[in-house]
This record gives sequence, C-alpha cells and structure tokens, in this order.
Amino acid sequence: MDEQFIRRIPKAELHLHIEGTLEPEMLMALARKHGVPLKYASEDALRQAYQFSRLQDFLDIYYEGAGVLRDEDDFYRLTRAYLHRAHADGVVHAEIFFDPQTHTERGIAFETVLNGIARALDEAERELGLSSQLILCFLRHLSAEAAMATLEQALPYRDRIFAVGLDSSEQGHPPAKFSQVFARAREAGFVAVAHAGEEGPPAYIYQALDDLKVARIDHGVRCEEDPALTRRLAAEGIPLTICPLSNVKLAVFDDMVQHNLKRLMDQGLVVTLNSDDPAYFGGYIADNYLAAQAALGLTEADIRQLARNSITASFMPQARKEHWLAQIDAMGGAA
Ligand code: ADE
Ligand code: ZN
Repeated sequence: MDEQFIRRIPKAELHLHIEGTLEPEMLMALARKHGVPLKYASEDALRQAYQFSRLQDFLDIYYEGAGVLRDEDDFYRLTRAYLHRAHADGVVHAEIFFDPQTHTERGIAFETVLNGIARALDEAERELGLSSQLILCFLRHLSAEAAMATLEQALPYRDRIFAVGLDSSEQGHPPAKFSQVFARAREAGFVAVAHAGEEGPPAYIYQALDDLKVARIDHGVRCEEDPALTRRLAAEGIPLTICPLSNVKLAVFDDMVQHNLKRLMDQGLVVTLNSDDPAYFGGYIADNYLAAQAALGLTEADIRQLARNSITASFMPQARKEHWLAQIDAMGGAA
C-alpha cells in the first residue's frame, strides 16, 4: 500500500508518553546542558541499549533518561519536537500522557512540567492546527497515597488536564490499588483511562473497567485470553489504544505477524494504533500503522477504520470528530 496514504490520512494519537519521545540526541544535549552524568558515551551507545525483554527493562532506562529533563524549557522543547513529528505523520489531535511523579520525586515542580508542556501544546494548536488534551498518569509502582497527593497537586489545573491514567510496572500493581484515587479524580471531573492487559492478566482489565470506571483501556491486548471480556469490550464499545511496535519491542508478541490487533478488529473492538514511547521503540505513529499493515496485510478499508476509530475514541468535542470523519471519508484511495 501507498505509504503516503497512511501518512496523510487524518488520525488521532491517543497513547503517547511525552517522556517516551526523548530522542537520544536531545537526551545527550540536555545531559550536557545540566551537567548530568550518563552511563552512555554517545547517541549510538544509547540506541544500542534499547533492547528489552520485558516492560521493566524499558522502564529502568526510560526513568533514567527522564532525569535530564530539568527546567520548563526542556519540557517545552520535548513536547514541541513531538508535535512537529506527529503533524508530519497526519496527526490532527493528540492526547498526551505525562508522568508528574517521575519529575516531582526528583524535586522538579509540578508547574515546571505542566507549564512547559502546555506552552508547546498551545503553540501547536495555533501554528499547526493540531489540537490536544493532557492525561496525567499515576505511577502504579508507587503508593496510592502518593497518587492521591499528585491528584491534589493537579486539582488547580483541572482546566488544563482532561483525564487521569495509570502506567508503569503493571505486574503486581493491579488497578484496584487505585480505586479511591480514581473515584476522587472522577468526582473532580477528570475522565479516567488506564494501562491494563499489556503484561498483566485479563483480571486487570476487568478492574480497570469496574473499579476505575475507565473510558478506554490502554493496550488491553491480553483481553483475548478471556472471550467473555473480549465480547464485553466489543459490546460496550470500550476502545483499546494499541501500540504495535511497543508490544513487539517489549516482547508482548514475538513478532508483528503474531500481533492480535486485526483479530480484535474482526471481533468488533474499537482498535486504535498509537506509538507509546516512540524514541525507544523505533517509530512514530505512521511507522506503527506501516509495520502493522505490512505484517498483517491490512487493507485500505482497515486503515480507514483505524483512522476513524482514533477520532471516535478520542475526547474531542463531537463537532470536531464529525469534521475529521468527513475528511477521512473524502480522502481518495491508496495507490
Ligand atoms: N510508561 C511509559 N510507557 C509505558 C508502557 N508501555 N507501559 C507502562 N508504563 C509505561
Ligand atoms: Zn503506554
């Protein structure tokens, strides 16, 4: 299929960790700027280290990398670089995760993180017409009390932060650990999403739905092990934000040919494709579409469906959704 069709088709990115867009070049430059010592001598040495056999291998390197983000300008530049790459991949709307605890635990102020990111988001909306929303993720390897304290810090910024999410080490940290935090967040008006069923079992997806009352499941690919759960996700129209290159890099699937995203689409689930942590997993959103298309033989109709799903599963206002759905339908076919 024509690569340009995949790049051009309007799409939303719904699963993207801003800290996961820190490319080795920017990482090394910020380490020099702030005098942060690194274990790696060059960009190439860093890239060589990006070999993972499970989620935790990646998280160890990802948190270390995030240690070079220190001032507001760092967060602004990081976010700006991502938005320009996304725009080039046909992204018209991005819902972006940020992990405040990764930074506040190091003594960086919550406001420094938020203000830097928000400045780049506002600029991209003005200059590129790329709309966005922010999703604050709690780190699930830390305590529920720490998550509650982070929620308290976010309350004054309710107008800037649309949703809350849950990420980091999944195994051993079930969603139910955060039931009270999510109840409080929903009361305050935040929408809820959560990573579940990436490495963790189907039981974690049930908990995300029933205890955290999420509007979407991030990853969710292990739902397939439980046919009743898979049927429920389809019947309730709960979208999955799937990240194909991430799943292969973190050995959730042995290779792309094994990925279940097409089977899940065929069972009526609202599947969306996303890039997760593109600086670490070898590609941005169009690379994810292209890799899935090539390995799974996705048709032009499948690509249109995935793009449509990304719009309908987003938290955009209805009128904007209709605008982008009409643009997708009006697009000429792939060569
Ligand atoms: N944080 C960044 N990327 C993540 C992922 N894929 N799973 C859980 N936590 C993450
Ligand atoms: Zn993720």
